[in-house]
Amino acid sequence: MADYIYTMELRLSPQQQRGVTLVQDVARNAGMNLYLTGGAVRDIITGFPIRDLDFTVQGNPLKLQKEFERAGAIIGGADDYFGTLYLTLPGAVRAEIGSARIERHEKTGKPPVVTPATIIEDLRRRDFSVNAMALSLNEGSRGLLMDPFNGAADIELKVLRVLHNYAFVEDPSRLIRASRFAARFHWPLEERTQARYDSAKENNYIEYITDHAIGYEIEQLAYEDDPLNVARVFEKEGWLKVLSPHWTTAKIDTNGLSQLMKTRQQMVDLGYIPQPAPAMLHFLTARLTEKESTDIRKMIPRRDLAEAWRDLEDHAKELSKRLTGKEAATPSRTWKLLSSVRPEMVLFLAITTRQQAVAQKIKNFFTKWREVQQKIPLPEMTELLITPQLPEYPKIAEDVFMLLLDGKMRSRTERLNFLKPLAPPPPPPPPPPKRGRGKAAAAAAAAQVPAPAAGKGKKKGKGEPPAAAAAPAVAAKATAKTAEPAKAAAKPAAKPAAQKTEPKKPAKPAAKKPAPKPAKAAKKKH
Ligand code: CTP
Repeated sequence: MADYIYTMELRLSPQQQRGVTLVQDVARNAGMNLYLTGGAVRDIITGFPIRDLDFTVQGNPLKLQKEFERAGAIIGGADDYFGTLYLTLPGAVRAEIGSARIERHEKTGKPPVVTPATIIEDLRRRDFSVNAMALSLNEGSRGLLMDPFNGAADIELKVLRVLHNYAFVEDPSRLIRASRFAARFHWPLEERTQARYDSAKENNYIEYITDHAIGYEIEQLAYEDDPLNVARVFEKEGWLKVLSPHWTTAKIDTNGLSQLMKTRQQMVDLGYIPQPAPAMLHFLTARLTEKESTDIRKMIPRRDLAEAWRDLEDHAKELSKRLTGKEAATPSRTWKLLSSVRPEMVLFLAITTRQQAVAQKIKNFFTKWREVQQKIPLPEMTELLITPQLPEYPKIAEDVFMLLLDGKMRSRTERLNFLKPLAPPPPPPPPPPKRGRGKAAAAAAAAQVPAPAAGKGKKKGKGEPPAAAAAPAVAAKATAKTAEPAKAAAKPAAKPAAQKTEPKKPAKPAAKKPAPKPAKAAKKKH
């Protein structure tokens, strides 16, 4: 059996891995069997980016809302009818937790009749073979892949295959989904699936799509990495007007969308994780009327997404105002403000602002000000033993960075004036080495090594290296310019070595003594 857990852990981001652990813990405590399903399993196997986590539990996930919130998840919406919970897990990980179910499609155009089921039965109600796989996250079977329709083989073949002949009749939204996945993966429909697709399209089955499915597919479009490409395919196939009657690609702000994708990538490269979906919806519907946009918004199942989209412009205006006010009067204050707001707000404002001053501040935040981090005076800090080992180091480094941003601490004197009061006390010299060679020898050794001044400096544990010893390691990381101060910092570390050698002299005669004595003395040490 392939080790899918290993592959999963390898493919998920650290945030997604933590998300899996969180959901696992909540489900286990509730005694519910849990599976990773749908696109997440498909993408683990294909190697495509894993955009969200789809879970299925045997039980009702809606009962777990409080537990999820306690564990740090945000509930983005809940669907009572299908028993689905829409979550945002810590680290901005999008997740959906569905109830394992059978869907019986009794009347075309009506929602299916839903009944609880086993995971295998649940897989049978799904759209395509590549989406009908589950990975067990339960003790005892963790990592077991359930693949009743041989989706893994279709992944190899790179085709989309429906599970049965009535797939498009049962759920016409699968027509839209087929186009979406084909556009994203560049995978064709398998031959018979293509024939069913053509026939369903010809017979206009799409008119039986439910409002719930329309809302769900609009939301999915907003999560696409390249929604414009998908929207173009939708338009060609006639699906865009199914999602909203007056929607065409001419109503999309294509320039805004491409700016959004570009700026988002820049932010990702800098380590931010902005959620672009609200802004995607903004640009995708830019030229629809207010009423048309509001109608679309109402259909979106994730209420938090719908609200974030609705409030986007107001929040951007607010941020813009703050950026031109006192709160952002200096570079350091602007930095703090931009670091404290949600990255998607910065992303949206960066693209839409018409105020030169705001645009410039955001630009500096992404570029010029970041370079100031290189100017953190590591040599002086190392010299003063202000090293990452200190608990207060992050705060000191942050304060230094803020001062540098505001053009302060230019000269060495200025830097030392600021840093000196923050430096830790110098480490005490190490205690004299104890020699078990009689009182006279010990006294002689003690006479040669000055005792540390009482109460001066931090007490160090046995065997702990002197604080100074750590400094060169930090300095070594710095540029060649820092080499000199690094040497200086190493000096206090050199002392103990010299001290160690000195007491060796009186030890010489003791070597002639019988062996047991030093052994006894060594025991005493412990
Ligand atoms: N699903 C389905 N039929 C639908 C909607 C969803 O069978 N009409 C199932 C599929 O198994 C799908 C899973 O629910 O894989 C999750 O749906 P969705 O998030 O829309 O698609 P993903 O496959 O996860 O693809 P992605 O998130 O990458 O777009």
